[in-house]
This record gives sequence, C-alpha cells and structure tokens, in this order.
Amino acid sequence: MDKLEIIGGKKLQGSINISGSKNATLPILAATILSKKIIIKNTPFVRDIQTMINLLSSLGSKIKINLKKNIIKINNPNKLETFASYNHVKTMRAGVLVLGPLLAKFGKAKVSLPGGCAIGARPIDLHIEGLKKLGAKIKLLNGYIYATAKKKLKGTKINFNKISVGATENLLIAACTAQGRTILNNCACEPEIKDLVNFLNKMGSKIKWMSKRKIQIDGVNELKECTYKVMFDRLEAGTFVIAAAATNGKVRLNNVNWKVINCEISVLKKMGVKFTKHRNQLIVIGNKKIKKTNVSTKPYPGFPTDLQAQLMTLMCLAKGDSKITENIFENRFMQVPELKRMGARIKIKGKKAFIKGNQKLTGAELMATDLRASVSLVIAALVAKNKSIINRVYHLDRGYENIEKKLSSCGAQIKRIE
Ligand code: UD1
Repeated sequence: MDKLEIIGGKKLQGSINISGSKNATLPILAATILSKKIIIKNTPFVRDIQTMINLLSSLGSKIKINLKKNIIKINNPNKLETFASYNHVKTMRAGVLVLGPLLAKFGKAKVSLPGGCAIGARPIDLHIEGLKKLGAKIKLLNGYIYATAKKKLKGTKINFNKISVGATENLLIAACTAQGRTILNNCACEPEIKDLVNFLNKMGSKIKWMSKRKIQIDGVNELKECTYKVMFDRLEAGTFVIAAAATNGKVRLNNVNWKVINCEISVLKKMGVKFTKHRNQLIVIGNKKIKKTNVSTKPYPGFPTDLQAQLMTLMCLAKGDSKITENIFENRFMQVPELKRMGARIKIKGKKAFIKGNQKLTGAELMATDLRASVSLVIAALVAKNKSIINRVYHLDRGYENIEKKLSSCGAQIKRIE
C-alpha cells in the first residue's frame, strides 16, 4: 500500500496548476445520464472520479478518457441499466447522485444506500423526501433504495429543512425533465452547484437562480449533447494556499477564480497571510508570524468544512490560541489524534476544537483517515522537523491529483513509497 514520505522544513516556492473540481465533476457525471453524448473538459483524474466512471460504465455508458488532456467523453445508448450496486456506492457517497437522473429518465432505479462514513452519519433523507415530492414511490429494503415513477416526475415546491449539497444536486438533476415547474427552496449554493446548473442549462435545461437559496426549474422534454469545461477545484486551491502559508512560502496558483474563495482568503488575511490577485492567478505570500483566529464552518459562502482540517494545522503554528467550530459534520476532527502525535496541543469539546498555538511540530509515522484529514497531515509534515511517513495514502488519492508532484515542484521533499 502506498505511503508518502515527507521531510519537513522546506518553504514552498513556485507555481501550481489547480485541477478541475472533483466535487463539480461528480454531479455533472451523474447528470450525463440524461443525455446521449457529452464531452467534459478539465476533469481531475482522482480516484472518486474513476469510481463514478466505473459506476456509469456499469450502467452501460460508453466512456473514453483522455488522461493527458483531462477530457471525458460519454456516449449513452438509448437504454441504460438502472441498478447501482453496493460495490459502486460503498466507497463514495456521491454514487447516490445517479438516483435522480435514473429515475427521471427511466422511471425506476435501484441504488445502494451509501451508509455512514468516517466523518459522520450522513443520511440521505432529504434526497429521498424531495424525490417523493416529485412523485416518485420509494422503498428502502435490504440496503437498497427502490425508486419508481409510473408517469413522468412532476414539478412541485420543495423546501429543504437543512442545507445539503448532495440533495440540492440530486433534485436539480431530477427536476430538469419533470413535468412543469419545480421550485427548490433553502438550497445549497456552493460554486459546484452553480457549475452543475451551468452544465444542465448548456444541455438545454431551463434553470434560474431566483435568489441566493431558491432555484426555479422549468421541465423540458429532453436534454441535448454538449461540451462543458468544469470549474477549478476551490478546495484544492484552498489546501495549497494553507500549505504555502504554513511553510512561510510564496506560491502562485494558476487556473483559479479567486472571487469564489473570498471567505477563505479573508480568514487567512486576518491570520497575516498576504495575497496578490491576478485574473486567473492567486499568489500566496506566507508570514512568519501567523496570527490566531476563530473560525466556524458553514455552508457556502461561509468557511468550508472541507478546509477545516488544513486550517487547524496552520492554527497550531499561530501566535496564540485558536478555536474551530465544526457545524457541518459531527465527526470531522479525525486529524486531531495524529496531529497530537506530532506535538500539537488540541482539545475537543463537542463540535469545538481548541488549538494551542506556537507549537513546534515534529515528524512521525501517521495514518491518513479521510480525504481532508489526510491532507492536513501532509501540511503538518511539510512544516515538521524531520521525516514523516503517511500511511493509507489512498484517502488522499480520492481527491488530490498528483499531490506529491505539485508539492515537490515547489521544493517540498515528498515522495511516494511502497
Ligand atoms: C458535499 C461534498 C463534501 C462536503 C459537503 C459539505 C461532494 C461530492 N461532497 O457532501 O465534500 O464536505 O458537501 O460541504 O460534493 N444531511 C442530512 N440529510 C441529507 C443530506 C445531508 O441530514 O439527506 C446532512 C449531512 O449529514 C451533513 C449536512 O447535511 O451534516 C451537509 O451534508 P451535504 O451538504 O449533503 O454533504 P454531501 O453532499 O454529502
């Protein structure tokens, strides 16, 4: 099993090309079920994307990948299978996003329930309740969701009682070809959802943002072919911003629309990190004296839960004590025991983490647990004294494309070992 070996202490200096967004590509791939022929550009080739490609292939989609150009071409026959097996959904919860499009196009779907995962229970009740409101009949049996719609799905008003990225996406996709008008209220408005809406509209959907958390969808009969370029990965960009800051380096990030990560930039500015902004570039300039701060994770446009672990590593190095309140997932401090083994001093009380600043981290052998927790350990290892070994790198490979190449091109001493 692959491991990463990192010798800490080097400032990151150089430039990094930010990949296309994993979290935007996943729902877009699921939505291709509604069309015949789609070309997607700027797709990151990470393990979660491969998992979604495997799932779509198991349904009968014909998929060609151009690894060098980051392009996926999809051709769908008239009929697809409507069964998404446990094997395809168990390793990646986003697999459940095929439920909406399968139901909308073929009137039935049997999709494995994704179950919980390391960061929390992660139910899908909002997806199911929403699809029922669109007219689907849904049963849960033997670990599977059995969904049917005798007639076409029917547009209606749906008020989500909690903001959910995945439920907003599943319902959006399902409503595109429903009869009449659907209104989704209290939606998630993450940039990846805006990207999905742009993609669906390019396929011929009629979707309008009515306000920050209200989307109107007028159903159309069918969706057409298109070519679409996925947005940049704001979470990868945010991760490298924090890595540059932690090592007191200077890094230029290419292919970035920095307006999308304003909240993250302002949190880091408060901590003393400097930025220069150009059209598609962001230059991050570290500061020896990182300041303490308090941050709460929130749905977009708030500070993302997916950058919480990385920020915690930076907080360990700050002058003074910081606090994080994790509002999105109940078990998202998995990095803490490992950071403590590197010398961090962190206390957790419920959804709050209290982080002692001024810590000198030292290298250790570490265990990656989930995607973002793992990358927070990579950042810690980049600043730590001596060597660290990070085990179970497959967690990182779910969402970071060529991470060791990107970091070593900026001077980090990092290599993959067996
Ligand atoms: C997506 C992202 C993930 C990110 C998360 C929050 C993808 C592939 N994944 O995950 O990286 O961390 O958004 O920004 O884009 N919930 C319910 N019932 C539901 C659905 C969700 O109670 O039916 C709860 C969840 O348990 C969680 C909260 O709502 O506490 C937010 O989850 P959600 O936004 O749905 O996250 P995902 O779409 O799974």
